[in-house]
Amino acid sequence: MRTPIIAGNWKMNMTIAEAEELVKAMLDGLTAVKNVEKVLCPPFVDLDRVASLIQGTDIKLGAQNMYWEEKGAFTGEISPLMLKGLCQYVILGHSERRSYFGETDEWVNRKVKAALAHGLTPIICVGETEAQYDAGETESVVRGQVEGVLRGLTAEQVARVVIAYEPVWAIGTGKAATAEQAQQVIGGVVRATIGRLYGQDVAEQVRIQYGGSTNSKNIREIMSQPDVDGALVGGASLKADEFTAMVRITSEIYS
Ligand code: 13P
Repeated sequence: MRTPIIAGNWKMNMTIAEAEELVKAMLDGLTAVKNVEKVLCPPFVDLDRVASLIQGTDIKLGAQNMYWEEKGAFTGEISPLMLKGLCQYVILGHSERRSYFGETDEWVNRKVKAALAHGLTPIICVGETEAQYDAGETESVVRGQVEGVLRGLTAEQVARVVIAYEPVWAIGTGKAATAEQAQQVIGGVVRATIGRLYGQDVAEQVRIQYGGSTNSKNIREIMSQPDVDGALVGGASLKADEFTAMVRITSEIYS
């Protein structure tokens, strides 16, 4: 059975002082839950502080982006060597990176390979835009992204990644996908594509999250779907009560 994974993507929010306050408010609620993997993904500048606050707990840490080179003249970028030892996860290919910063599947693929080479677990984001959804292209778009970001990986590497299906139209809009829609794409497209490319065995091991306007009210139904293994949470991860409630509700489903 796959261990569910709830990750909070703080995006470009929280100064170091605010991060400290938020983590302290969540600490007891999160550590009380044992059968769910909990990941906090603060901005780079908060990572070190958050790492010390969660030290000795089972809460994991993730970054929100990374470049693929180890070091050099890449002003403003952060390398896998810098993240290694500091955090365990790294979100790659988030739709905001794709739309505002021009990241392509090819770039995300290079980053995924670099993350794995350095022992970081990538949380790889895929998902269709509203226009693509309206045009009935969800399946072909998501299938293409999954193929593109995993290209050249071994089956053993694919088994280690986490994929987040985040329909762009559901991100920050308050309009989450229905549980059925999430299941349909996660099971019918993402897991099915991995199965076709790497075999059913590998597909059964990969954890696939849903992301987009999740909160403590809709998480139960979404997490109850057979192929949904967790959530990548944006807005609700900035509220201690909401985020801990989401982790607790997920834990109830799996116990
Ligand atoms: P929201 O939960 O705010 O819709 O954001 C989802 C997301 O983009 C997480 O990566």
